[in-house]
Formats: sequence, C-alpha cells, structure tokens
Amino acid sequence: MKVVVLTGAGISAESGLSTFRDSGGLWEGHDPMQVATPEAYADDPGLVQRFYDARRAALDTVEPNAAHHALARLEEALGDDLLVVTQNVDDLHERAGSRRVHHIHGRLRSAWCRACGVRHEWDGPLADTPPCPACGARALRPDIVWFGEIPYGMDLVEQALWECDLFVSIGTSGLVYPAAAFVHWARGATLELNLEPSAGATDFAESRQGPASELVPAWVDQVVGLLR
Ligand code: APR
Repeated sequence: MKVVVLTGAGISAESGLSTFRDSGGLWEGHDPMQVATPEAYADDPGLVQRFYDARRAALDTVEPNAAHHALARLEEALGDDLLVVTQNVDDLHERAGSRRVHHIHGRLRSAWCRACGVRHEWDGPLADTPPCPACGARALRPDIVWFGEIPYGMDLVEQALWECDLFVSIGTSGLVYPAAAFVHWARGATLELNLEPSAGATDFAESRQGPASELVPAWVDQVVGLLR
C-alpha cells in the first residue's frame, strides 16, 4: 500500500513549537507571516535572519512527540511505500527516525549561499553574516521557501500523489498552496487528522479531529494492523 502523508505545524505543536496561525503572537513586534517573504529579507535582512536564528536555536529545546514517532514506525512497516511530505522546517521527523521525508518549504538547519548556490548543513546563527564555507562570500540565507517562492520538489510530490493508495494530511490549516491542493491531486483515498476541521476538511473522504499525539498513533496502529 502506497501512502503519502502531508504534515504541517500542528504535528509539532505538542513538541512545543508554535504553529503559524493559532497563536496570534507577534515576534519582536512583527507578524511572523510578514517576516517570511523575500521582500522582508531585502528590506531588513538582519531582522529576518534573527527570526530564523531564534527558530533554529529553538530546535535544541524540543523533542519529537508521539505523532512523529508513530510516522517513523509506519515507515518501518511500509518502507519505500511511505513518503512524508512536510511543510515544516523543523527536523522532528528525522529525529524520530523517519528517513523518507521531503521538506517542501526547506529546512532551518540548512543555509543556502546566494553567491555560489551551495547549501550547507547549519546549526548556528546567520545574523552575524558568517562566510560561506564553499566560496567565502557573506551571502548565506536561511534555506526556507518564503511566500512568493516556489516550493521544493513538486514534481516528486505530484508523482507520489498520483501513485498513492492513501493520502493523509496531518496538522495543517489547509490555507497555504500548493499543499492545500494535494487532496485534489491524490488518486487514492483521503484522510485528514487535525485538531479541528481545516479549511479543506470537506474535500477529504474522512476527517478525524483531535490532537496529533493521539490521532496519529491510533491511525498508524490501524494501518499496521491491516498489513499483518
Ligand atoms: N494536533 C493536530 N493539529 C493541530 C494541533 C495538534 N496538537 N495543534 C494545532 N493543530 C492544527 C491547527 O488546528 C491548524 O489547523 O494545525 C494547523 C496549523 O495550521 P498553521 O499554523 O496554518 O500551519 P501550517 O498549515 O503548517 O502552515 C502552512 O504556512 O506560514 C506558512 O510556510 C509556513 O509551512 C507553513 C505554511
């Protein structure tokens, strides 16, 4: 059985990472949505770098939760037949043990040199404009897909959705495209697992409401049970 899972900020909420639209909180007086744009970076690169430096540093303070671990368990059962497509820029899927994870919005722990184009695994800050380890230019930006930029690897995702038997969306508001359209691209059955019905909940064949740390392990138990 080929399964594609889409995850959003809701799967990491119970690990202590705030979602984008639930908190209503400001960061240094700015709406986080307005910091995540190429225009914001052009206007004030230091501000944008500090925002992502803080989010990168916060990764050291959080751990994967039961939902991330359940998806790693599902990969043990399904192997290459599972693809996790995530909008999240954290590394909690990988730290839970998932290997087939595709980050369509990039990753906090990756830095991208705008001078030479090389990407580097990155743990520290970028606001102090460190040199690129490859070319020396002080031109590293967060390897994050901002609003108005093209998500990574959509060909791969489109293909996987076309081939899947089941598409499951977890912890995402269904407001940001192209991920919000995946339910229409999926050829197989569709299921939503979310705290509340998302904007696109009625597009799914089935929608279950509750915290990801409960819904995801229960759903994985169901799938693994069917495979036995
Ligand atoms: N369990 C399950 N779902 C949850 C939980 C939880 N514990 N907590 C919150 N949610 C749900 C919320 O109800 C909401 O529908 O997760 C969703 C989070 O929505 P958003 O904050 O909009 O996050 P997401 O959908 O991932 O945002 C998409 O927007 O800002 C951009 O690039 C950013 O990748 C992000 C994209």
